[in-house]
Amino acid sequence: MKFSFSREEGKITTFYVHIYLCKYIDWQSMNQYFCSKVQGFFYDFYSKIMSSSNYGRLQGKVAIITGGAAGIGKCAAEKFCSEGAIVIIWDVNYEAGEKTINELKAKGYTAEFFSLNVTQLSAVEAAAKSVVEKYGKIDILINNAGITRDKTLLKMTEEQWRQVIEVNLTGVFNTTKAVVPYMVEKGYGRIINTSSVVALYGNIGQTNYVATKAALIGMTKTWGKELGPKGITVNAVAPGYISTEMITTVPENIINEIKQKTPLRRLGTPEDVANAYLFLASDEASYVNATVLSVDGGMTI
Ligand SMILES: NC(=O)c1ccc[n+]([C@@H]2O[C@H](COP(=O)([O-])OP(=O)(O)OC[C@H]3O[C@@H](n4cnc5c(N)ncnc54)[C@H](O)[C@@H]3O)[C@@H](O)[C@H]2O)c1
Repeated sequence: MKFSFSREEGKITTFYVHIYLCKYIDWQSMNQYFCSKVQGFFYDFYSKIMSSSNYGRLQGKVAIITGGAAGIGKCAAEKFCSEGAIVIIWDVNYEAGEKTINELKAKGYTAEFFSLNVTQLSAVEAAAKSVVEKYGKIDILINNAGITRDKTLLKMTEEQWRQVIEVNLTGVFNTTKAVVPYMVEKGYGRIINTSSVVALYGNIGQTNYVATKAALIGMTKTWGKELGPKGITVNAVAPGYISTEMITTVPENIINEIKQKTPLRRLGTPEDVANAYLFLASDEASYVNATVLSVDGGMTI
C-alpha cells in the first residue's frame, strides 16, 4: 500500500491522530508496561506510514534554485519546499521573486529570495556565503535560470549572442563555482543543470541558446568526474517544450507541430520538469551521476 502525503497533510494527520488517541485512551489507568507497548506500537505505525509516503524527501536540505521566481523554477521551489527543503531563490526579477517568496511563506514554508543576477560572480559568491552563514550548508544547487534571444545565424547580433552566453553559460559557471566549495567541505552535494533537448538535436534560430545548453552537458560530465569523488553528483535535465513564459514567442502553428511530433501529444508542464529535479536531488538518485535526463514526452526519438 502506498501512502501519499504532502508535508502539511502529514503534519495535520499526525496531529489529529494524536488528539484522537489522547481523547479516547485513558493512559493513566493502564499499567506502565502495557502503556509503553501500546505507545510503541502507535509510534512504529506512524513511522511506517510516514516513511512509506513522499513526506519529506528533502527534509532538512538547503536548496538554491536559480531562476526560481517564475516558470519551471517557481514550480520546483514549491515542490522542494513541500518535500521539506529550505529553498533559496536567486533570480534577477525582483517583483516576481518577492511574489513567489510571499506565496511560499504564506504556506508556512522556509524560503528566501535574493534579487541576484547570475552573471555577477562577486554577487553570487556573497549570496552563497550568506546562505551558509545562516543555514550552515548548501546541499542542492539547481542551475535553472535561462534566457532566449532567438534569431537565425545571419540575423543574430553579437549582443544577442553575448547576452545568452552570459546568463545560460557563464551564469552556471558562476553559481557552481561559488557553491561547490561549501559542498566539498561537507562531502555532499547535488547539482542539476538545466539543458534542453535542442542541445542534443540542434534548433533553427537558436545558435546562441543551443551553444549554451550543449556546453552545459559537457560541463555536467566534466563536473560529474571532478566532483563525484567528493560526494557531489552532477546531472543535467533536458526538457522538451514546456508551457512557460519562455515559449510564448513560439508561433501557434509551430506549437501544434511540436505536439503532433510528441508521442504524448502535449507540451510539458513545469511540474514535469520539477519532478525530474526532485528525483535527481533526492537520495533515491544517489548513484545517478554525470547523466542527462530528457523530459520531453518522447519528442526526440
Ligand atoms: N520552457 C521551455 O520550453 C524550456 C525548454 C528547455 C529548457 N528550458 C530551460 O528551463 C529553464 C527555466 O525555463 P522557464 O521556461 O521556466 O523560463 P522562464 O522565463 O519562465 O523563467 C526563467 C527565470 O530565470 C530568471 N532569470 C533570467 N535571467 C536571469 C539572471 N541573469 N539571473 C538570475 N535569474 C535570471 C528569470 O527572471 C525567470 O524567473 C531555463 O534554463 C530554460 O532554458 C526551458
